Amino acid sequence: MTENARPAVPRHVAIIMDGNGRWATARHLPRVAGHSRGIEAVRAVIEQAGRRGVEYLTLFAFSSENWKRPQEEVSTLMRLFVSALQKEVGKLSENGVRMRVVGNLSAFEPELQALIGDAERQTMHNTQLQLTVCASYGGRWDIVQALRSLIGSVPDPRALARGLTEQQLAEHLGLSFAPDPDLLIRTGGEQRISNFLLWQCAYSELYFTDTLWPDFDPAAFDAALAWFATRERRFGRTSAQVSRPAAEELRA
Ligand code: IPE
Ligand code: IPE
Ligand code: MG
Repeated sequence: MTENARPAVPRHVAIIMDGNGRWATARHLPRVAGHSRGIEAVRAVIEQAGRRGVEYLTLFAFSSENWKRPQEEVSTLMRLFVSALQKEVGKLSENGVRMRVVGNLSAFEPELQALIGDAERQTMHNTQLQLTVCASYGGRWDIVQALRSLIGSVPDPRALARGLTEQQLAEHLGLSFAPDPDLLIRTGGEQRISNFLLWQCAYSELYFTDTLWPDFDPAAFDAALAWFATRERRFGRTSAQVSRPAAEELRA
């Protein structure tokens, strides 16, 4: 087997950053104040992930369904996204972070699309941490766009359909450059996936915490990593099967 049953640090951590609105409402503040504080939490968690040796960090910032929110909240979120890109990309790049944005980007204003393109180009040679922001992203959208892209890439779609493999489809998904998430964290108390990485989280360890996203600090991130380190990852096999190869390796 290739997977390590008890990896100490997850290579890929994905986070559903939920609870900004409730954080603000509890303080009698407008929801946007929660989103602003949420950006500070993002900054701290990126740094902590880098310190802990996580290779891939994927953050769910705005879902396909979030377009249905009141127009005022959507436009505020877009403004925050623009200003965060303008302010943070230089520092991310200095810290060796490569940034990508994955989602249906055609739904964004041209200014935001251009900033995203700039950020991706500016950081493309960095290797310390692969940061992916999922924006205007939905797991179902991702699978459909992958299929469209795959079908469009072959001369004979009927022949493709007859021999289609999981690997072929996965190569066209938005996160094809990354291994599947080892650990999926959701803050804010809900225990659901909300159309995040439906394909890629088939075997992720799921960690739910009541902590609201703006309160999710480096210590909270470490707590999630500590919980992850206690999990035995079996990938369908038995416990004996996944622990034996390690014992055999020690004897060798
Ligand atoms: C997550 O926080 C941020 C986005 C979805 C953009 P919410 O805005 O969903 O906060 P709650 O769930 O209403 O508290
Ligand atoms: C999920 O949060 C999406 C993001 C964190 C970007 P939501 O707040 O949109 O999730 P639901 O609608 O409560 O499931
Ligand atoms: Mg929410």
